Amino acid sequence: MRIKIAPSLLAADFSCLKDEIKGIQNLGVDFLHIDIMDGHFVPNVSIGPGVVRDLRPKTRIGLEAHLMIEHPEKYIDSFIEAGADIITLHIETISSSDFKKEAQKLHRKGLKIGIALNPKTELSRLKDTLDVCDMVLVMTVNPGFGGQKFIPWVLPKISKLRSYFDGDIAVDGGIDDKTAKLAVKAGANVLAAGTYIFKAKDRRAAVEKLKNLGSLPIYRQKGSIRCHK
Ligand code: DX5
Ligand code: ZN
Repeated sequence: MRIKIAPSLLAADFSCLKDEIKGIQNLGVDFLHIDIMDGHFVPNVSIGPGVVRDLRPKTRIGLEAHLMIEHPEKYIDSFIEAGADIITLHIETISSSDFKKEAQKLHRKGLKIGIALNPKTELSRLKDTLDVCDMVLVMTVNPGFGGQKFIPWVLPKISKLRSYFDGDIAVDGGIDDKTAKLAVKAGANVLAAGTYIFKAKDRRAAVEKLKNLGSLPIYRQKGSIRCHK
């Protein structure tokens, strides 16, 4: 399974986002992970749809809006209009039935939808969303801030999910070459990484290290990893 790399914009230099993105897209990354925080669902605020809208014409790579906000359904349309390609919502913020409605809407428009869950949230909460979602984003830190330490006890959750979910499994928080290796071995194939990429002395080398994890022998005989995307 190919590893997809999603640099997390939160660790970029916000005074020159256009240049940051132009530099990063040339490293062969897959899409940009953009953290949207409201100061309620998480104890921090970041940016809104206006920034996504202004960045959209400046880059050819896909844009994922990771919505760490309460009442995400109120804001989805503005992220669609802004030009997001993937919108990821937290299961802690939306009912499964409302998630399904949003999934239908996004798919009709040719967009993808992800469902995220916090470290302490049980996998069973996702049960009724998996058949309509393109990606599950497993938080490997408590959301709200970049630069936190990876939480290793989330790994069994990734393995369990991979035993029955064929789509993309992303990890987000504290991802570097070492923690990414653990996550990929457990079954993740999308690596959202902020600090490790943007604060690296050599960003290209950092991205290459993550991409190379794709050659790990992660395919299993039973409950095999398949990817339909
Ligand atoms: C945390 C965010 C992450 C964050 C990751 O709430 O969802 O995307 O930017 O940052 P690092 O890679 O620095 O842990
Ligand atoms: Zn994120």
